[in-house]
Amino acid sequence: MKPVLNRKQPCGELSIKDVGRSVCIAGWVEARRDLGGLIFIELRDASGKVQLVADPQVNKDVHDKLSTLRSEYVIAAAGSITSRPEGSQNPEMPTGAVEIYPQAVELLNTCRPLPFQLQEAHQVDEALRLKYRYLDLRRPEMLSNLKLRHEVTQSIRNYLDKQGFIEVETPMLTRATPEGARDFLVPSRLNPGHWYALPQSPQLFKQTLMISGVEKYYQVARCFRDEDLRADRQPEFTQIDLEMAFTCEEEVMTITEGILQSAFASAGIDLHLPFKRLSYNECMQRFGSDKPDLRFGFELKDLTTLGRTCQFNAFRQTVDCGGQLKAICLPGLANSASRKQLDSWQTFARSCGAKGLAWISFGSDGVRSSGISQHFTASDLETMRSLADCRIGDVILLVADKPAIVANVLGRLRIKLAEELNAIDKTAHELLWVTEFPMFEFDDVENRLAAVHHPFTSPHPDDVELLNTTPLAARARAYDIVYNGVEIGGGSIRIHSQEVQEKAFAAIGLSHQEAHDKFGFLLEALESGAPPHGGLALGLDRIVMLLAGCKSIRDVIAFPKTQSGACLMTGAPSSASREQLAELNVMMADSR
Ligand code: AMO
Repeated sequence: MKPVLNRKQPCGELSIKDVGRSVCIAGWVEARRDLGGLIFIELRDASGKVQLVADPQVNKDVHDKLSTLRSEYVIAAAGSITSRPEGSQNPEMPTGAVEIYPQAVELLNTCRPLPFQLQEAHQVDEALRLKYRYLDLRRPEMLSNLKLRHEVTQSIRNYLDKQGFIEVETPMLTRATPEGARDFLVPSRLNPGHWYALPQSPQLFKQTLMISGVEKYYQVARCFRDEDLRADRQPEFTQIDLEMAFTCEEEVMTITEGILQSAFASAGIDLHLPFKRLSYNECMQRFGSDKPDLRFGFELKDLTTLGRTCQFNAFRQTVDCGGQLKAICLPGLANSASRKQLDSWQTFARSCGAKGLAWISFGSDGVRSSGISQHFTASDLETMRSLADCRIGDVILLVADKPAIVANVLGRLRIKLAEELNAIDKTAHELLWVTEFPMFEFDDVENRLAAVHHPFTSPHPDDVELLNTTPLAARARAYDIVYNGVEIGGGSIRIHSQEVQEKAFAAIGLSHQEAHDKFGFLLEALESGAPPHGGLALGLDRIVMLLAGCKSIRDVIAFPKTQSGACLMTGAPSSASREQLAELNVMMADSR
């Protein structure tokens, strides 16, 4: 039936200035209170809430209607705005100075008993929220996350448009693009035995667009990666993907800084440009991570020179075998760090792969340690303090091992310590460019080299020859952007020479034939007047998650997947009928 009352006014925008106006509002019943004959309804729509009041002495019909309303019923109401009586204003509520005594109320729909109360959603299991996502999204916090996401995206689109970028859509049904994850495959009905891959990113299309002369491309691009999921990863996620021809690192970084400045401004955060920059090597040396959180100190200090000369066998032998000795200094903790705390940090370090974690506490009343201080002379202890920037009153935590293990253990311990010791400045916004990544790393599982970024990344001009000789030593023209310790984007200047691209493929173990079978179209395009080009992609979901102060990207995606890749609302993925599979020429392993 067609509603009689037509909503003309959002609930949440009413204020004292509207007193006396007649309005027609509509929304969901958030709460009903019956007090001394009066009925109060909090009515909510996407804009906010307003209070309705019914007095049986004034309008019995309306009072009777309101008395039957339950949580989440949908109604429309018409009436004039009045100011609330002295003492009953609600300063917490934007419309808390006014209320409406409706002259007419219309029930637009009822609501069955809900699986959870919207106001108590934060206490219920996330699986229940995801199953009834339409209810979960009705909550003002979730709606405000979606609005923030829209505003961030919109501000980025406006910024890139002003900079002369054009948005180009690239295909969803395509060939595999190597970004390091597994592909989602889609069988082709018309080409039996052949499969499309959903794009892990639009990488090769955007490079092709540069060769086509587009020059400045961007896309709010959906990407698909079949990888193990975490709080900041989804199998289907969105990138702000961009590419420029005739460009260099500086220009890509400047554009990205502008994008982030406008995106952060949508959340009321003023970013100062330019962002800090550190090379990959410096990050690993100082923070044990290629995405360091700069909101706190606890930097890693290199004590390897002391490890080489000291009398402590465990340290000396490790260093003699190419290992490192590194430490984190905890200022002022000599008296306050408890044995239990120190033990828990040792257990944590071991769980990250360390053989152990030694500690020395330089108290004003003497030195205590995890049983190692007797192996060091007084002068060794002095050197140790000086190398670790440690004063009397501080504690140092030491790890000796292979460089990669030292970095991993101390890098992760650094974050744990900062969280436990409340050392993180929660008001800070630390943006950092990490540059000069290595081109390749050794993949133990595949037993070959793998590209650190992706194999289309240009080597540093001085390192091109290393691709043939010592590829592990070659630096890439790649850069990542890190916000408070989270990688929010990454990109590179690309290879635009067919010859160098072939070398990069060869370095990761692709034969000439394999390279041409998989990427023949790119190699041909590179020979067809490819301009120098480069770009970057920002993880939109991660950025919005951080701006909204959420712990999971699921809270800023309307319909996210669970850890096991399922959509609990629709029940995807689901089985397919035999007929469908037969049509696609797909046979289930157990139906053979
Ligand atoms: P990269 O793989 O670094 O680069 O991805 C860019 C950014 O996308 C985000 N991201 C994700 N967000 C949510 N869930 C995921 N599973 C996920 N994976 C990545 C991250 C990341 O920094 N083609 C290159 C870009 C380029 O070279 O221009 C690429 O995709 O925030």
